[in-house]
Order: sequence, then C-alpha cells, then structure tokens
Amino acid sequence: MSNTVLKCPQHLAIVMDGNGRWAKKRRLPAAAGHKVGVETVRKVLRASRELGIKHLTLFAFSSENWRRPELEVRALMSLFSSYLDNEIEELASEAVRVRFIGRRDRFSKSLLKKIEFAESETASNSAFTLTLAVDYGGQWDIANAARQLASEVAAGTLAVNDIDEDRLDALVSLSDLPAPDLMIRTSGEHRISNYLLWQLAYSEFYFTDVLWPDFGRDDLVAAIQDYTTRDRRYGGRNETNNA
Ligand code: IPE
Ligand code: IPE
Ligand code: MG
Repeated sequence: MSNTVLKCPQHLAIVMDGNGRWAKKRRLPAAAGHKVGVETVRKVLRASRELGIKHLTLFAFSSENWRRPELEVRALMSLFSSYLDNEIEELASEAVRVRFIGRRDRFSKSLLKKIEFAESETASNSAFTLTLAVDYGGQWDIANAARQLASEVAAGTLAVNDIDEDRLDALVSLSDLPAPDLMIRTSGEHRISNYLLWQLAYSEFYFTDVLWPDFGRDDLVAAIQDYTTRDRRYGGRNETNNA
C-alpha cells in the first residue's frame, strides 16, 4: 500500500450515493441505508487519514434533497445531529477540523447550534479537514459568490472590470483549500448532481458501482490506485506525452 501513499490525493471529494438502493434491496426504509452510510463515513474518514489524504469533502445532503419525502429528510437531519453529538469530541482530540459548506438558513435551530459548535470546537485543528456539504448546491455556491461581488461593486469598492476567475474563486466554498484532486461517486451514477461545480474543474473523476453503505477501505484504495495512473495535464502537455 506504500505506493498509494506516495501519490495520494491531497483533497478527496465524495458523492456518497446509493443508501436508498442499499436499503431497498433489503426491503428497508431509506433511513436504514443512511444509518449504515454513517458507519461508512467513519470508516472512510479513518482510512483517508491513514492513507495520507489531508482534506475530505463529503456530499451529505444536496440543496435538492429537500424534495425527498418528509420522513426521510427528518431521518437525515436526525442522523447529522447524532453524528455531531457522537463524533465531535473524538474528532477534536484527533486534530480534525470539521467544517460545513452550504446554506444554513433552512436547518432547525438546534442542528445549526451543533454545526456551529462542531466548527468552533475544531477550528484550530489543522492535521486534517473534514468538510460536510449539507444543504449544498454548486449553483448556489457560485451564485452566492456572484452576489458578494455584486455587492462590492454596488458599494463602490470593486470595479466591474476587476472581476475575474481569481476573485470569484476566492469567494466560493473551500477557497482556502487546494481544489479536490479526486472526486469519487458511488452507486453507479455518472453525474455531478450539483456538487462542487466550480471546484471540480480539473479534478479526476472515479465512479464505482459499489453502494455507499458497502464502500470500504479496499474500495478507497482501488480508487486511489486508479488515480495514481492518471495523467493530469490541466490543458497543457506533459513531457512524457510528447512522444
Ligand atoms: C445518498 O443516497 C444519500 C443522500 C442523497 C442523502 P441516496 O439516498 O441518494 O441513495 P439512492 O440513490 O436512492 O440509492
Ligand atoms: C447527490 O445524490 C447528493 C448526495 C449524495 C448528498 P442524489 O441521489 O441526490 O442525486 P441524484 O438525484 O441521483 O442526481
Ligand atoms: Mg442517490
């Protein structure tokens, strides 16, 4: 496994998908799949740290997931809440910084409090960043950054002609981290579903049919091994490809 550590992605982003199908196969409600999915989060977080990844960004709830049945949404919110109750102390002691990206105005007051507590409690940690994308949408993220630029223009502190990629980049989520090197999506879906639209511009994508509750350390290692074979050109031409 030592060779995987060598070229390990610094920043891994995951679309954790397939909980519903995992539950359906067992004639269980979707919530049962989400519950097992939380166990996978614990395992993948541990494995990521052991493998040398520095930043892990997990898509836990999209801005479109509010369209799910009320019972399922409630179950998900309650799982986020108990995850924070159960894990923060340990994560804080392990130098993990926990952050959230996405809208914050649609959570219950008590969940919002737990989110803020998790962030403040781990704010000074720097060994590893765990970012949870909850009520997150890539289009919202870009629109939010555009709104901030527009307000600077309206206030007279920014000229329209000074708006460029770097200015916008500085205002989208995760601007302080390196862009995700690798994006994994489980469950066989080959789409981005409004995840980090801006940030994934040059990320490598890895798709697996494994459902998120079944995803384990070996699957993560397989994804990283595949990543190590990729030739990241960023639009340029690497020396080795010139032949
Ligand atoms: C991913 O699993 C978790 C969330 C979107 C919250 P799904 O619930 O989307 O699983 P499938 O796609 O129905 O199998
Ligand atoms: C994307 O999965 C969101 C999360 C994993 C949190 P979805 O299951 O919501 O995406 P679609 O509906 O299949 O595109
Ligand atoms: Mg899904």
